[in-house]
Amino acid sequence: MQPSSETFPPPRSGIRVRRLSEHIGAEIENIDLSRPISSAQFADINTLLVRHSVLVFRGQDLPPAMHVDFASRFGRLVGHIVKRFSVDDYPEVTYISNVRNDKGEMIGADRAGMIWHSDMSYLPRPMLGSMLYGVECPPEGADTEFASMFAAHDALPDSMRALLAGAKGVHDYAWHYATYLSHRKPLTDEEKAQAPPVSHPALRTHPESGRKAIYVSEGLTRTLDGMEEAEGRRLVVEASEFATQPQFVYRHKWRSGDLVFWDNRSTMHRATEFDNRYRRLMRRTTVEGDIPA
Ligand SMILES: [Fe+2]
Repeated sequence: MQPSSETFPPPRSGIRVRRLSEHIGAEIENIDLSRPISSAQFADINTLLVRHSVLVFRGQDLPPAMHVDFASRFGRLVGHIVKRFSVDDYPEVTYISNVRNDKGEMIGADRAGMIWHSDMSYLPRPMLGSMLYGVECPPEGADTEFASMFAAHDALPDSMRALLAGAKGVHDYAWHYATYLSHRKPLTDEEKAQAPPVSHPALRTHPESGRKAIYVSEGLTRTLDGMEEAEGRRLVVEASEFATQPQFVYRHKWRSGDLVFWDNRSTMHRATEFDNRYRRLMRRTTVEGDIPA
């Protein structure tokens, strides 16, 4: 897809924008994230994030210090609950990786986020956005899929919209971990205590654009509040499957040097399989958002 006049207002900072799909994703060019960004660049990027939900910056050289510097412009950074996955000297930066250290231990979160989710939706103040940087990417596989919860919301059948309006999703990290991450060391009691289940509106309003978005996910929303567990779960899965149909999805194929910045308030995402013979080393920061409403 070519640059489009739909990117309005046009960027004022000299960056260029190329849309990546009908509903979601834009590639941002003519910016060097290895240096602090200007206030004009910040304003443009923030506007474009709210509009396109996923921003792709290719060919970036981004040491951890600059990753933190860029991400911090958008809000407070929140490290991973599992502290052993942090980058040395940068507790706010988490490794997502299948690489092992000298002792044979995983240095990062392995097989992370393979089920549709919005990052850390199990916290009272979930993430505004996440920034994932490819240090070493497999030559094939390990794509990340992103789905527009704005577009999915706007296309909801009336019956499903009526069920979700006023409902609250129960987001539960310990349940998620036990269900999907049983290949890892079990969570410690201390880690579990940091993330008791929380409820958020099943349909939320984006605080900057006012657009409505679906905010339940198969991966992190265990059920719906006040509903029989299995029936609530069935509705969560149904909504999540509706929201992640191909017409709402952009699939990112990673190259080393890519930084992808996504808006967790208007998207779900998931990682996809790859051949574990390949090394994969990614760094992630997450920016805290507001309380969903
Ligand atoms: Fe994620």
